[in-house]
Amino acid sequence: MELQEILLKIDELPTPDPIVQRIVSVASDPNASAKDLAQVIKLDASLTARILRLVNSAYYGLPRKIVALNEAIMILGFKTVRNIALSIFTYSSVVKNKKSTVDHYQLWKHFIGTAVGCELLAQMVGYPNKEELFISGLLHDIGKVALDYIFPEAFAAVTKLTKNLQISFMQAEEKLNLPNHPIISGKMIEKWNLPEIVVYSASGHHAPNNFSESVYSDVVAIVHIVDFLINLMRYGDSYTYGGLTLSSFALNVLGIKPSFLTNLTEKLRLRLIEAEDFLKIEQEVS
Ligand SMILES: [Fe+2]
Ligand SMILES: [Fe+2]
Repeated sequence: MELQEILLKIDELPTPDPIVQRIVSVASDPNASAKDLAQVIKLDASLTARILRLVNSAYYGLPRKIVALNEAIMILGFKTVRNIALSIFTYSSVVKNKKSTVDHYQLWKHFIGTAVGCELLAQMVGYPNKEELFISGLLHDIGKVALDYIFPEAFAAVTKLTKNLQISFMQAEEKLNLPNHPIISGKMIEKWNLPEIVVYSASGHHAPNNFSESVYSDVVAIVHIVDFLINLMRYGDSYTYGGLTLSSFALNVLGIKPSFLTNLTEKLRLRLIEAEDFLKIEQEVS
């Protein structure tokens, strides 16, 4: 199967609905106000309720309950509220995807784990734009879902091979001559009009060394390291059962030592408990 063939099919994949798309563009507009963003979100009552529920989740640790969107946006910032809206959309396209016969709940868990871990690592190494790292982590493997949509038989063949041979998703893609999922992830994120940093970090997450000359080498390194850790911790399931290696180049880019990862893992375990509401996005709001 050719990459070109898959890329053509990507155009048929669901893109965020118009409201989520407007949230993304308003959130990146420097002239927009909290009121502008709240007005867009309020067009969808169920989305509003879900966003407020996550705003008030342990993950954000706010000292009191927030009931107004305006206030949520002012306290947490445009990008965080955008991240919540994108998580809700991604959840429905990954887990609630009626076209797929596969239950991707464990993959969703992998997405959330990586998102939370990337935001945390970004914060720990002092990366200024930690909110973009949440989205980079969330969407890094979205290409796997795309493959399942476009060629369910190919997806089934990959997951069978990863299990049988205890290898990584990418190794199975290579054996089956399929284009690799980071490329597909990057193409999808481009289509969703998300910042370039998210496109690059997703496209490079299995090959940080290829980005040594890039201005994005640090974000690629963050996603690479956290993806490795989340797999190691067996948080969720990314259909990878071996064959993942941690790039020492990625550690060097961030200036961290392997011992730093023990500290990161401990902190990450706590953050994941606080982020549990992201796993239950479908829950009706009471
Ligand atoms: Fe991956
Ligand atoms: Fe992954």
